[in-house]
Amino acid sequence: MPVLVPGPASPQLAQRLAKACNYTVAKVSYRVFPDGESYVRVESNLKGETAIVVQSCPPPQDKRLMELLQLIDASLRAGSSKVFAIVPYFAYSRQDKVFLDYEALSSKIIAKIIEAIGANLLITVNIHSDLVLSYFEKIKALNLDAFPEVASYLTSYNLRKPLVLSPDRKRYPDAQRVARLINGEAAFLEKKRDLLSGAVTTEEKELTLEGRDIVIVDDIISTGGTLINAAKIVSRGNPSRIIAACIHGLYANNALEKLAAAGVSEVVSTDTIESPTSKISVARIIADTLKELTGG
Ligand code: R5P
Repeated sequence: MPVLVPGPASPQLAQRLAKACNYTVAKVSYRVFPDGESYVRVESNLKGETAIVVQSCPPPQDKRLMELLQLIDASLRAGSSKVFAIVPYFAYSRQDKVFLDYEALSSKIIAKIIEAIGANLLITVNIHSDLVLSYFEKIKALNLDAFPEVASYLTSYNLRKPLVLSPDRKRYPDAQRVARLINGEAAFLEKKRDLLSGAVTTEEKELTLEGRDIVIVDDIISTGGTLINAAKIVSRGNPSRIIAACIHGLYANNALEKLAAAGVSEVVSTDTIESPTSKISVARIIADTLKELTGG
């Protein structure tokens, strides 16, 4: 029977997953040395078992990544026959290609080290770019879709004439999928990001918004800049409510306060990143995949 190895970034998701799969949870100790270095030790014997390491990589990303690698390494040292790395939020996935000459291809570096340290499989959730999956050359990398979970959560809101809005064209298919599941309409805005400054500009668009509940969906909310632009455009059309729903809520630079100031009444996210907004769990979709892979 696989054993779940919980990482410090995903304590609640790890418990939910263990419960959903009926896995035992390994005892793991973590310490931080006075100079800031991380220490990880798996205290359970994992001899011959598949270790399911659950560790997301939100801020502080580099520390979370190091802990992930330490958990994989320690699980192998504790005797596990295989390690499945569950990395619900895959840090650096927005650096999926080289945009400007001689940039580091950060997401590829991460894929290479996860493989090199000895993981046998990677599972992630709504990775920002599928291209990153192709950087895993030796092991299988699976990307799960949590937007149906988001849609199912939204059905509890009793939405009025819902419009599911993608703040950029690239995420429109996600908005369309959510809209279908909640019997709403979908639309998108056109967004541009300056590659050097990171500043986001969004074009105005004629949309019928009066009296409707607008759900702006995105994969990631980081600074909130993308969602704030969309919310400002939408609020000019007198909607009833503006709700923001994302998979990965990072909320850098007081993003939640800024979203509220831009007219967003509620922000919800999944537990790929655990926070007060992570009301939607991805445990079920990960559990279903694990059961399929392990035959139980
Ligand atoms: C970009 O393509 C992503 O889908 C998100 O829209 C973006 O990462 C959000 O970042 P921020 O909240 O900083 O605008």
